[in-house]
Amino acid sequence: MIVLGCDHGGFELKQAIMKHLDEAGKEYIDVGSYNTDSIDYPVIAKALCEKITSGEAELGILCCGTGIGMSMAANKVKGIRAACCSDTFSARLTRNHNNANVLCLGGRVLGAGLALDLVDAFLGAEFEGGRHQRRVDMLEGD
Ligand code: RB5
Repeated sequence: MIVLGCDHGGFELKQAIMKHLDEAGKEYIDVGSYNTDSIDYPVIAKALCEKITSGEAELGILCCGTGIGMSMAANKVKGIRAACCSDTFSARLTRNHNNANVLCLGGRVLGAGLALDLVDAFLGAEFEGGRHQRRVDMLEGD
């Protein structure tokens, strides 16, 4: 399962991603926001991360104006590895090498065409494990 979230800066992009996933027949949970009213991105990031840490979803996509605030907020949550990406190579490699479980996108940075390519690159990639597992484990060290 995929979980999606946005603030007002990422609302339009989340709408485009939902349409894209609908057309691909992929299921998702939408934790909001559900309109363009101003909302604090950490609130949405926390709600999305809870869906992942609870096991309800495996991967998440967070959209705000830049993707940066969402990634900062999400990376505060234990077990979350969020990557703010604006190129497809990074969106794929952050799954392959970092086992990222949240992709963060900037609705005021990216055109919808590129953003949907990033979504496909992220969702279509797998963690490679091996030497990367040791490094990912180190991220969780207390
Ligand atoms: C909201 O204006 C904006 O600050 C937010 O969407 C995001 O870009 C924060 O990183």
